[in-house]
Amino acid sequence: MCGVIGATGAQDPLEIILEGLHRLEYRGYDSAGVALVEGDRLWRVREADGTRSVAALEVLARGAPAGSRTGIGHTRWATHGRPSPENAHPHFDCTGGLALVHNGIIENHAELSAGLVERGHTLASETDSEVLVHLLEEELDQGLVEAVRRCLPRLRGSFSVAVVHAGEPELIVGARRATPLVLGVADGEGLVASDIPALLGRTRRLFALADDEVAEVRPGEVRVTTVEGRVVEPTALTVEWDLEAAQKAGCDDFMSKEMGEQPKAVADTLLDRRKADGTLVLDELRLRVEELAAVDKVVIVACGSSYHAALVAKYALEHWTRLPTEVDIASEFRYRDPVLDGRTLAVGVSQSGETLDTLQALREAKRQGAKAMVVSNVVDSSMAREADGVLYTRAGPEIGVASTKCHLAQIVALELLALTLAQHRGTRGRPEVTELFERLSELPGKVAETLGRRKEVDQVADALAGARDFFFLGRHVGFPVALEGALKLKEISYLRAEGYPAGELKHGPIALIEPGTVVVAVATRNPLWEKMLSNVEEVRSRGATVVLVADDGDEETARRADHVLWVPPVEPLLSPVVNVVPLQLLAYRLARALGHDVDRPRNLAKTVTVE
Ligand code: F6R
Repeated sequence: MCGVIGATGAQDPLEIILEGLHRLEYRGYDSAGVALVEGDRLWRVREADGTRSVAALEVLARGAPAGSRTGIGHTRWATHGRPSPENAHPHFDCTGGLALVHNGIIENHAELSAGLVERGHTLASETDSEVLVHLLEEELDQGLVEAVRRCLPRLRGSFSVAVVHAGEPELIVGARRATPLVLGVADGEGLVASDIPALLGRTRRLFALADDEVAEVRPGEVRVTTVEGRVVEPTALTVEWDLEAAQKAGCDDFMSKEMGEQPKAVADTLLDRRKADGTLVLDELRLRVEELAAVDKVVIVACGSSYHAALVAKYALEHWTRLPTEVDIASEFRYRDPVLDGRTLAVGVSQSGETLDTLQALREAKRQGAKAMVVSNVVDSSMAREADGVLYTRAGPEIGVASTKCHLAQIVALELLALTLAQHRGTRGRPEVTELFERLSELPGKVAETLGRRKEVDQVADALAGARDFFFLGRHVGFPVALEGALKLKEISYLRAEGYPAGELKHGPIALIEPGTVVVAVATRNPLWEKMLSNVEEVRSRGATVVLVADDGDEETARRADHVLWVPPVEPLLSPVVNVVPLQLLAYRLARALGHDVDRPRNLAKTVTVE
């Protein structure tokens, strides 16, 4: 996720900006930049040296002009356009007199940039962000504040921005929608940042900006107005956190923070994917419509949680597109002499885009002539560079080792891919694709609702304290949810947890069920729900403690359970996005109760670049 910072009125704004950028590094970033107002000109440096970019900026900044009182800085986590100095912020307008930093996604950037090019602007980057600085350039006749007010209504999507103008050297204008922006006032200094940690070393007089408000940040003062120009009192923030707590947004750990970010991860992954006429477009896919339409088989390769997301996608792909779909664990696929050809679409799923087994599996697919694409959370990762096409999940950096928000975003991205293929192959008509996209768009709200039930999940977890053996059961798309629930629990709590397709129980695993075994089953309504309940009866009668994930108000299911994890009902093929959430929360609570470090579980690494 990008980080934004700005300072005006300070003796040395550059020092404040660089320190703030360091404090934002924990969020993960791939490039960084700074712009300073110097007299009636702007000075800028940008670096795309991965996580060394801020340190590299410090070296470049030795050439900064002395005497500047105002500047803005940025750490970028690429979403539109690869990490490069040209794509790094701040972005300039055509005159070089305006500079902008942006966090978020401008959903209608393609349409806006087409208009700008027609009107003679030259866009110097591949980013969505740059369009705004050129729009502002066209509206500057009454100054920067008014320009921002005029442009905001033309933007769709999410943003927090800070802008400076060489003609107004002691002013930073900030604005936001759906992405936070914090204002700060210190002795003679006005400050702005995307996150509290960036400003904590400087001041504790902080204020929150609300959606579609415009902040004028000047030395020692901030003034907030609405888009219409009405003055509003900004909400003062009381911050009792130290730096570490602030980096975790006040949560106890990154896993908790990242679970809380899941609605946004899902919403951002869906942004920008549907044209006004209802057609789905996956811009960065780089595969032509004809290439997609010609595919006659899909092979998905992945590891761990990404593999579970791929398993969910198999159900959606086969149902919506009627394409035979194989899902393989990458480390098995690459050595099993798989059969592929030029009409096979090979999809690697990897949040890091660096997992060696998945990378090698994709290389094998390419070697056999298949079209290779990757679903990745990291722009320009090794897989993204090597594949023929890429689809990005936009979950932002995930720091907790156990994947949560990336997993949800992967499921959503793969379902988008399935719907897009269905559209190109004509296996689902426009009204059905539209309807399913609408259902996907409801998921952020349903995930948020489910996260809001955390206390109830905690109570269930507390009632299970002391249990050592867990089985997770599911059928259909509930099966990969069960696998993921078991993986989360074993990774962070070190308890024994197995995921099974419920229909397989009688073929062996049921021998292990005895009083004291906990069985967690996904029992939301789908065509196999009745069969699932029969499996639940089988384990109940053998003395298992039964925990059921059930649709709100489904008392018939609840009757069979010792404990219920309620979820809002969701269209069955999309339900894993919601149903996995209480299982993450359950694993989290059980692990914390055992005193484990959920962010850094033993023996595990976030990115696995060895076999
Ligand atoms: C589990 C987890 C791992 C990863 C796996 C693949 O919580 O995070 O199982 O899913 O190591 O990693 P990526 O997706 O980076 O290829």
